Amino acid sequence: MTQSNVIRAVIRGTGHYLPQRVFPNSEFDASLNTSDEWIVSRSGIERRHFAAEGEFTSDMAIHAGRAALENAGLAPEDIDAVIVATSTPDYTFPAVATQVQAALGIRRGFAFDIQAVCAGFVFALANATGLVMAGQAKRVLVIGAETFSRIMDWTDRASCVLFGDGAGALVLEAQTGTGMNTDRGVLASDLNSDGQYCDLLYVDGGVSRTGTAGHLRMQGRELFRHAVEKLAATANAALDKAGLQASDIDWVVPHQANLRIIRGTAQKLGLDMEKVIVTVQDHGNTSAASIPLALSVANSEGRFKPGDLLVLEAIGGGLSWGAVVLRW
Ligand code: ACO
Repeated sequence: MTQSNVIRAVIRGTGHYLPQRVFPNSEFDASLNTSDEWIVSRSGIERRHFAAEGEFTSDMAIHAGRAALENAGLAPEDIDAVIVATSTPDYTFPAVATQVQAALGIRRGFAFDIQAVCAGFVFALANATGLVMAGQAKRVLVIGAETFSRIMDWTDRASCVLFGDGAGALVLEAQTGTGMNTDRGVLASDLNSDGQYCDLLYVDGGVSRTGTAGHLRMQGRELFRHAVEKLAATANAALDKAGLQASDIDWVVPHQANLRIIRGTAQKLGLDMEKVIVTVQDHGNTSAASIPLALSVANSEGRFKPGDLLVLEAIGGGLSWGAVVLRW
């Protein structure tokens, strides 16, 4: 079946920002009774970046957004929507996206945040694509930015060693396609949530319940079990919607939570690790920022070529999980 003049949401540029402070595994407090060997063997994480005092989610989102605009060769007035995926906003409201909009000098269009924890960027990208394809926006700045260091329980060694801070961004642009899966741009997405698993990963505070920000609580082993199975399933579901299969994939850009989850998912998809972008060793788990960070780092290294098929997949608190299939 052929169609013509379909609007596609195509990635026009990427950017990222990492806070200056690098925190290697060896620097965790001795009272935690952890080790570089344990952290690397269980998670693949060697170091992460932490935001400086006085450095906020909006600051990192602004840096990453500006870098993505530069990489796209666009000016602030070219952007008509800003979407930030985050679970760690500066304020309860307004949205971080409006702070980004103001700082970058974008004076029109609309801006809002999306909260789907570690799956946030996949949810944001799928929603931005919907807005582009519906003609609501021509160019959308989509950002993932997090300061998880501010919601860690620094006495819980099972969780605090896994997370880091950072931001990544991309510019989505409306371009005309044919409707075939050979088009550039987002070809399909698959989004899922199952709230019955909320106890596996949550933050024990919030505006209406405690009036505090709270701390992250996690059942790591149970999460691990869900992650590999659900990530492979959502990647296959998105590929199926696009009329493609795992053997068509050139690159997987997974949520960077744990190297063992990344490897297990690649194995379930029948993919060689050479096709998987891995940054978890340097960034840790930056939640909604992890996929755009990995995407931007890989793009700056020139790893993607036009026409490559990419699959982005993530799972996080909710549980919420999903995948986006796109052609570079
Ligand atoms: N250092 C040393 N020992 C530790 C540490 C640590 N940092 N953390 C836990 N341990 C100990 C535990 O106390 C336990 O000891 P015990 O056997 O004496 O009770 C032992 O190590 C094994 O603990 P497990 O939790 O069973 O270890 P596991 O092999 O499952 O690895 C991990 C833990 C890394 C958290 C793993 O379960 C995991 O990665 N789960 C997914 C969690 C995740 O990625 N969360 C991010 C958000 S969701 C997402 O993004 C997918």
